[in-house]
Amino acid sequence: MIKQGEYLSRAGDCIACHTAKGGKPFAGGLGIESPLGTIYSPNITPDKETGIGNYTYEDFDQAVRHGKARDGHSLYPAMPYTAYAKVTPDDVKALTRTSRGPCRCAGP
Ligand code: HEC
Repeated sequence: MIKQGEYLSRAGDCIACHTAKGGKPFAGGLGIESPLGTIYSPNITPDKETGIGNYTYEDFDQAVRHGKARDGHSLYPAMPYTAYAKVTPDDVKALTRTSRGPCRCAGP
């Protein structure tokens, strides 16, 4: 399960967008150009205050596969959730358990 999650977080290249140059992995802050202006990637570390440590597995799944943030707002297309919509729920579960991955926080 954990191996699978690691594979996915690398394959999905989550770290490429969710890490600022020289910053902490998954801590966000990278500016991404978009037609709507520059969008900064959020912190998706398991930190409860600045990251997504309070996300449940369902919240995480909603964000990654359906583009819905926990507070209900739609994520901008800069977050390529459309590409992850085909990822299976099992894959997302594996991602939440990745030891070094974004979401050790979420899920059991
Ligand atoms: C092409 C760049 C890019 C890639 C690749 C990417 N993200 Fe994102 N992600 C973003 C941006 C930008 C946002 C913020 C969008 C917004 O706030 O509207 C975001 C938002 C999120 C959120 C929502 C955070 C919140 O505050 O609700 C989660 C969770 C997330 N990403 C997880 C992931 C995971 C897991 C992967 C890999 C499977 C991934 N992202 C890959 C750019 C990316």
